[in-house]
Amino acid sequence: MENTITDSIKITPITTSKLDKVDFDNLSFGKTFTDHMFECDFKDGVWQTPQIKPYGPLTIDPSARVFHYGQAVFEGMKAFKDDKGDVFLFRPKDNFNRINISANRLAIPSFPEQYFMEGLKQLLKIDEKWIKSGAGNSLYIRPFVIATQACVSAAEANEYKFMIICSPAQAYYVGDVSVLIAEKYSRSANGGVGYAKAAGNYAAQFYPTNLAKKEGYQQVIWTDADTHEYMEEAGTMNIFFRINDTLLTAPISDRILDGITRKSLLEIAEKEGIATEVRPIKVNEIVKAAEDGGLKEMFGAGTAAVISPIKAFGYKGNHYEIKRPEKAFASHLKKALMDIQYNLTEDPYGWRVKL
Ligand code: COI
Repeated sequence: MENTITDSIKITPITTSKLDKVDFDNLSFGKTFTDHMFECDFKDGVWQTPQIKPYGPLTIDPSARVFHYGQAVFEGMKAFKDDKGDVFLFRPKDNFNRINISANRLAIPSFPEQYFMEGLKQLLKIDEKWIKSGAGNSLYIRPFVIATQACVSAAEANEYKFMIICSPAQAYYVGDVSVLIAEKYSRSANGGVGYAKAAGNYAAQFYPTNLAKKEGYQQVIWTDADTHEYMEEAGTMNIFFRINDTLLTAPISDRILDGITRKSLLEIAEKEGIATEVRPIKVNEIVKAAEDGGLKEMFGAGTAAVISPIKAFGYKGNHYEIKRPEKAFASHLKKALMDIQYNLTEDPYGWRVKL
């Protein structure tokens, strides 16, 4: 049932802000949260009146279905502040659409657009001082939904909590990353939940990522579940390859997340005359290109990671180094993207949304 936002969001502001205690020059990703959070419960078949209240712990029944069956989806988005102090969101409608695509796959009721957009706006307004200007500073926004119904029978819940929490952020990865190409593990199989931002997709990555870390790599690039011959995406980001002067990335599918940074970079690249190919990419093609010098760049792209250059990859016991070229696509595309996000240039795509 679609709600209309006739009842205004109920706002309970904090009495004392934590802002003064935060060292904004030394933020560790995802550990510091703003003063307020947005919360909206689903019960009796409708989303109830949303609230903005002081950030703090929740009380949830131990039998809530989220704890037993992982019925949970989330989003990652960012707000940016320009030098004049204006705040912008980047493609928020895309995050709204995607959280409902994910929710739908996990049998979670869709969240109403007005609640999402209005809740987000009001939350950012009340916590606006937490958004710092300057390239590299942003506010990472984490909308999520969890099944709260107290019941351990294995079926979808009839009660949920939708929340938005915000965390001031700088870089997700410090420096270039190295990745291990998975020989055995996959993000998802066809028919699975790979295309959804389902919490369990990320939990399933921690074990293989820890194995990769033992070999000296920070991340895994998943290969397809059927043959493990094709590149899919990395643990926290979609993945791009540059062979000579062509930028390649795998097509989205049942198994691969429709990354908003990914599709933005493809559009920017095409507009700037960079040849792009969106097609299945064989691991062997990349290995061969690394061996014969054709592989010029590899980088990950995601909201949290932005664009993270990859300096090396491992595959079947071999290690391949990638020397970043002087005129790297990664640097060029990152600047073009961030100039739009921070209101430093025109936005011909209509992606920037002023608060
Ligand atoms: C994001 O980039 O926003 C994500 O959700 C990835 C997450 C694992 C940090």
